[in-house]
Amino acid sequence: MSSQQDKFERLNERNVEAELGGGQDRIDRQHAAGRKTARERIAILIDPGTFVELDKFVVHRSHNFGMEESHFPGDGVVTGYGKIDGRLVYTFAQDFTVFGGSMSRSNADKIMKIMDLAMKMGAPLIGLNDSGGARIQEGIESLAGYADIFYRNVMASGVIPQISAILGPCAGGAVYSPAITDFIVMVKDTSYMFVTGPDVVKAVTHEDVTKEELGGASTHHSVSGVAHLTADSEEHALLMIRELIGYLPSNNLEEPHAIEFKDDIHREDKSLDTLIPDDPNKAYDMKELISTIADDHSFFEIQPAFAPNMLIGFARLAGRSVGIVANQPASLAGVLDINSSVKSARFVRFCDAFNIPLVTIVDVPGFLPGTSQEYGGIIRHGAKLLYAYAEATVPKITLITRKAYGGAYDVMSSKHIGGDVNFAYPTAEIAVMGAEGAVKIIHREKMNEEELAQKIEDYREKFSNPYKAAELGYIDEIIIPSQTRFKLIQALEMTSNKHKSNPLKKHGNIPL
Ligand code: HXC
Repeated sequence: MSSQQDKFERLNERNVEAELGGGQDRIDRQHAAGRKTARERIAILIDPGTFVELDKFVVHRSHNFGMEESHFPGDGVVTGYGKIDGRLVYTFAQDFTVFGGSMSRSNADKIMKIMDLAMKMGAPLIGLNDSGGARIQEGIESLAGYADIFYRNVMASGVIPQISAILGPCAGGAVYSPAITDFIVMVKDTSYMFVTGPDVVKAVTHEDVTKEELGGASTHHSVSGVAHLTADSEEHALLMIRELIGYLPSNNLEEPHAIEFKDDIHREDKSLDTLIPDDPNKAYDMKELISTIADDHSFFEIQPAFAPNMLIGFARLAGRSVGIVANQPASLAGVLDINSSVKSARFVRFCDAFNIPLVTIVDVPGFLPGTSQEYGGIIRHGAKLLYAYAEATVPKITLITRKAYGGAYDVMSSKHIGGDVNFAYPTAEIAVMGAEGAVKIIHREKMNEEELAQKIEDYREKFSNPYKAAELGYIDEIIIPSQTRFKLIQALEMTSNKHKSNPLKKHGNIPL
């Protein structure tokens, strides 16, 4: 064998060694726990044959606790770039088989390198997290690495999309980088996020809690709202990320990715003409409306189980990505409360940052009254949504299907806070409040049932319709529901060259 061949052989051996991570035993343990290795995950996430790994031979530089005897090439994180549906993305995948995927200084340096590249090249960053947190043997160097990453996450926010998958136990510092990113995807039964685990909770607060209750996917999906998507398996989570990337531009200077579409832009659906019940107190499913009007009836819902009284997610209209924000009358009558305001405000800001037009569909009885909401700060949280809409400069198309009462009318992308095209159905009721409540406040005098019914009818006749708002120019057009798809597509086309900027400032002061 020539010496050149020896060198090639040496490279091959080192590659094989690096690809084994923490060794076959630990890989087997990872599989037994129902989890994949970092490289197996990347193989699902990235288009075949496109992944380029960087820093494969990087090792840690610690000399504490006998660490100098224990080196694994790559040091517990696989980093690099590749393509999703032909578009460039950067990714890092923590390798739990090497020191539990924990964060060392070298490990942080690798992640920072691809974050810097993602920013320079203007491409999304996808983090596959599976880590025991700070590398205990490295102490402050590990904390410094985390903070260096947090800083980059913040600088990248609003510049490139950042997506985090949580694919194992993520504790301590391992949760804060994902928390700054735009979307968090968790996996049922195998992924956890907590600042401190159940043992520390027990010691400090004497609470008995399982890790699933404390920080499992269902907790973060439906209770805390920390997770945006929950997958049934790791493969499902990674495929969801691929789908999500398809709706997004690569960076804030690009338009969202448009695709070829076959669905007829003029498609009318008569079922929409009967979707809204005559009785204003009767519920209906807003998801039916959204999926009926979207290309191929497809709605990619975000945070479906958290604050289900507000729907948010992505759809396509004539091949273009749009962000949908819609009250859901089938849950709490679509009322605005703390959680639904916070959920939708962040989504509006994401869409605005990445040039994704907003389609807002309104059927809202107002803000939820009561002490629990007031003590929780509904004023501050509701103001977030108002702020987010007013500040957004992307095309804003609004459709009122039924109720648009009180402050909630103003907040939900009304003309007054910058709605570009505001539609209403003939069934819309745009008023300070519902007819019954209004009559009981205006007419304090005693009335028999017949008089009360008459007064309610009078009020309804006068205010519970879209015509007063249309007379004032606050509604641009009253449309027949079956024509919604075409009307929205027309409005999006009309607004596609919209250029609007807000006054120059360092940044505003959103009521956090
Ligand atoms: C070094 C670690 C490690 C860590 C795990 N390992 N966590 N090594 N630093 N933080 C190693 C283990 O020694 C073990 O090595 C291997 O990874 C697998 O760990 P196990 O405990 O066997 O796995 P499992 O039973 O699945 O438990 C996983 C775990 C647990 C829940 C993550 O390991 C754990 O509690 N780790 C510590 C978590 C923690 O407290 N981290 C610090 C948080 S503070 P071998 O050689 O046996 O394979 C923090 C501060 C940052 O992050 C703050 C920034 C804001």
